[in-house]
Parts: sequence; structure tokens; C-alpha cells
Amino acid sequence: MPALKTPGFHHITMVATDAPRTLAFYGDLLGFDLVKKTVNFDDPGAYHLYFGRDGGRPGTILTFFEWAHARRGHWGVGGVHHLALGVATPEAQLKWKRRLTDAGVSVSGPIDRGYFKSLYFSDPDGQILEIATAGPGYAIDEPADALGRELVVPPHPRLRAGSRRLPSGRDEEAIANANRPTPSARVPEPVPEVTPDMTLDGIHHITGITDDIERAHDFYEEALGLRIVKKTYNQDDAKTKHYFWARYDGEKIGPHSALTLFGWEGSRYVSRPGAGQTHHIAFRAESPDEQAAWREHLLSLDLDVTTVKDRSYFQSIYFHAPDGLLLEIATDSPGFAVDEPADALGADLKLPEWLEPRRGDIERKLVPLG
Ligand SMILES: [Fe+2]
Ligand SMILES: [Fe+2]
Repeated sequence: MPALKTPGFHHITMVATDAPRTLAFYGDLLGFDLVKKTVNFDDPGAYHLYFGRDGGRPGTILTFFEWAHARRGHWGVGGVHHLALGVATPEAQLKWKRRLTDAGVSVSGPIDRGYFKSLYFSDPDGQILEIATAGPGYAIDEPADALGRELVVPPHPRLRAGSRRLPSGRDEEAIANANRPTPSARVPEPVPEVTPDMTLDGIHHITGITDDIERAHDFYEEALGLRIVKKTYNQDDAKTKHYFWARYDGEKIGPHSALTLFGWEGSRYVSRPGAGQTHHIAFRAESPDEQAAWREHLLSLDLDVTTVKDRSYFQSIYFHAPDGLLLEIATDSPGFAVDEPADALGADLKLPEWLEPRRGDIERKLVPLG
């Protein structure tokens, strides 16, 4: 069997405390479709909301466990620092800045990261989000067919050599000052609707924090078949390495596949799970057979892998990265139209068959979403 290579992300699952607020933010404000309203199968008193594009295309799926009493988490080693959502152009990105700012969301950027431009903000629970442009891409400072071979030092002034702030890391004020868009780049009119050019096409990249970036490199290449596409430094923290991996065939990078990590070598500043944090990230397996092969492969690497769990819309296996991040491999099939019409996804509370006898109890505990 050929070496296993994931096509990229299937979904990311985050922790929220207020389902109606999450629906308003990701649905109404950011324009994602609610593609499934269900409960956490391992904790049926809690909502599990799925958002996505095109009925829940893998790579565009954002999911939330609602735990009303979850304490606020914090990013750190073994956690996700931020989730970047993709937008096509810098012009559309500026429209997002206007739309979000008008909605009372504090936004910084756009910042030119070289490979893309980035806008930063947080969701109502504190999850750090980014809106990143599709281009210009990773081939601006090394050949497209030889990405990730050399350590690239970002050109001045993107590398702020004076910044030494760990673990608080990002120097927000310096970033804002250095990257303030010119007045002419501002969008003069309010943006009350998400226009088609503004469509957020799911996961652009996910950035986490590890305490051993070379160990992480071996792991993601060996366990998941990702390939390094950029070795550089964190542009907001000159002493921290920043590596990017993706589905990369030596020519092109697959969509929704870029995982990036900040290397906090030897740091014990461990992430704290909770509200506003990522619970886990899921990569794709194209079929149940491939997932089964993957499970064997992961077991052969001495990883502790769960049995296959039926999540109704996909099948899942779970394991941990060496720095502690919880990972999943989820199948593309059967998808979200398995228990309600494709044109009415997210309309009703859906439960797996084994929870149907408890529907009355479950519905009484959940806040209606309308
Ligand atoms: Fe990012
Ligand atoms: Fe998951």
C-alpha cells in the first residue's frame, strides 16, 4: 500500500459557552452555514454545532462543543494558538475588517506576512481567529518545487528582532503600528451583507504551539504524511521557529491542509483546555479502508489510538501528538445529508438512534436556537 498522506483537515472543534451567541457569530456575522445541530455524543447534555461550506465540505467544517460552565482556557504548548480562515483577496479582507469592526469586534491588521496577509480578531469566547488571503503563497522566497528545504529568515521589518515577549508572545501594539493600513485602503461604506467575494472558505491554516519543533516535524511527516513547506521564524517573536506543513506533492499545496507550529523549545507553558480554545483538530481519511490502514500505521508507531467511533456523519479515530494536542482522523463519508435533506441541514436537532429514546430529556436541557 502506498504511504498514507492525508489530503488535509476535515474539521476543527472548539469550545464555546453560549450556543446562540456562537450561532450569531459564526453564522450571521462570518456567514458560515449551520450544517448540523446535534449533541456531543460523549456528553449528550451539550450541543455540538457544525458549521461549514457547501453542506459541510471537509476542510471547511468548524464545530463547537457548548459547555456553558467551561472555564476560560489559554493557549500554550500542546494547544492551538489560532485558526485562520481563508479569503480570496486583500480587497475582500478589508471588507471583513469593516464588517467586523462595525459589529464591535476588535480587529488588528491586515498584516503582511509575506505568504499571505492576515487580519486578527477573537470570537466571543476568546478563540483567536485570523482571516488570511489565498496568496501570494509559499513560493515567494524559495522555489515552488523545493519548499521547506532551507530555514528562511523573514526580511526586515517583518522580523521584529527586539521582540522577546514569551509567553505573551505577540506584541499587539507594535504590530498595529507597523502594519496600519493606509486610509485609502479602508472600506468607506458599511458591509451589512457577506458578499460572494468575501466568502470564508474554511480552514486556511491552523497554528499550534509545540515544545519540540523537530520532534513535531518527524511526527507530522511520519504519522500523517504531511510535508514541510516552510521553515522560518515567528514574525512577532524573533527567537521562535515557525514551521509550516501541508499536503504537498512537490509542486502544489493542497487546500485546507496547512498546519503551522510555533516552536517553544523546552517550554512548560502548557495550554489549558477550556472555553475559547480548540478541543481537537481532525484530518481527513478518504475512505473507511484508508482509515483502518491509518489506524494500523499509527499503532505501528506505538501511538495510543482509539477504536473507530461512529460519529454519524463520519467515522473517527483519536490519538495525541507528542506535545499533547488531540488529533482525529475522520472519514469524508457519509456526510451531513445522511439524516436530513441536503437543503435543510441544521434545521432540526438531530440525534443518533441510540439517543432518540432520551430526546425529551435532552431537548429540555438545551437552550433553543430558533
Ligand atoms: Fe496564522
Ligand atoms: Fe472531531
